[in-house]
Amino acid sequence: MPARHMGNRDQSGFAWNDRAEGGNRGPVAQRSKRAQGPFEQKKVQGMLPMRSGELEFRKFVSPEVIFGFGCRNLAGRFALNLGATRVLVVSDPGVAAAGWTHDVEESLEASQIPYDLYLDVSPNPRSDQVARGAEAFVSNGCDLVLGVGGGSPIDCAKGIGILSSNGRDILDYVGADRLVEPVPPLICVPTTASAADVSQFCIITDVARRTKVSILSKMLVPDVSLTDPETLLTMPALLTANTALDALTHAIEAYLSNGSSPTTDLFALEAIRLINGSLIPGILEPGDRELRRRLMQAALDAGLAFSNAGLGVIHAMAHALGGLLDLPHGLCNVMLMQAGLEYNFEAVPDRYAAIAEALGVGASVRNTRRALDAILERIAELRRQAGVTPTLGGCGVRIEDIPLLAEKALTDLCMATNPRWPTRLEIESLYARSL
Ligand SMILES: [Fe+2]
Repeated sequence: MPARHMGNRDQSGFAWNDRAEGGNRGPVAQRSKRAQGPFEQKKVQGMLPMRSGELEFRKFVSPEVIFGFGCRNLAGRFALNLGATRVLVVSDPGVAAAGWTHDVEESLEASQIPYDLYLDVSPNPRSDQVARGAEAFVSNGCDLVLGVGGGSPIDCAKGIGILSSNGRDILDYVGADRLVEPVPPLICVPTTASAADVSQFCIITDVARRTKVSILSKMLVPDVSLTDPETLLTMPALLTANTALDALTHAIEAYLSNGSSPTTDLFALEAIRLINGSLIPGILEPGDRELRRRLMQAALDAGLAFSNAGLGVIHAMAHALGGLLDLPHGLCNVMLMQAGLEYNFEAVPDRYAAIAEALGVGASVRNTRRALDAILERIAELRRQAGVTPTLGGCGVRIEDIPLLAEKALTDLCMATNPRWPTRLEIESLYARSL
């Protein structure tokens, strides 16, 4: 079967470092003026500059996306199209209990494609689970990975793909563009609003270091995403809230990112609008198919935005937090949202007005500073209505945990596209303000 991506050089094409070198795009140039930090070193080590002379380059990659009720049942047909002879279905027990994994299995059977099922995936997938999945993939002679579920099974499926062709340990590939060999074809059927099914990120928990690590590569963009809003119908209220607030964070951070572009801005702002209008009604009316469709569309749009523009300080800090305490990812983001938005404001103040507008509070914005306040008030309101109100302290974070959290957050890949370059002390103070 042909490799998904020809060639053996892994270049995400990410634009993370170009604005750090200056620019001539008005506000963008302001965003570029940041202090030297650890990512200057990362830039030298691995990231390719995307700039040529005065030009800034931006790219936009996406899988083939099939969007619509019932499209999960096309999994077998798409596996056949990709030449699969044996498939490893990666899912988790909760998704299997909801019946979505079974639907995909039936679709494979209807297309007469043999498959194996791998369900050993925890809510924050671990490096050892990836290793065992890769072993199953290779020993069973599989040649296509099919991830069914939220971000955890899909990230695990990506990790299995990496190890099956590149070998070694999944933690050897942490960072940008570290893969050598192309990965096997990957089909995703997302069942939450994680957007892992369209992104070039793979997030894995490093068990030994108790932190989440990010692997970034264009090779990790799935071949096909069968984005089926029907799968959201079984999501309980709290999971709906956490994943939608995660998608909101994706959209906001992508819009503020140094790697944003006019294309990613379109997706980011539309995602913010959709989540703002659909989150609370969607929780109150879980069986409303149109509201679920909008939430799924929002997750897709936010995913396309952040996969191409990158994220920022909120996700970097949330990854460190989620690794330490094994908390839901969306919850980690939302607890850090206020501190992160306040911190980034001075770097990109002009961008906040459009976010306020998309959140439906633009009319109250009479000056730039008011935009920040209006955004924070609206997000606090959404959190209250969605019942997601914990703080870091309430989740068990202690003041003495902060230095270690800050150290891990500072080296997270997501920090590379944040519009401000934080010091360790600044990160510590952001955690402290969120306690
Ligand atoms: Fe996220």
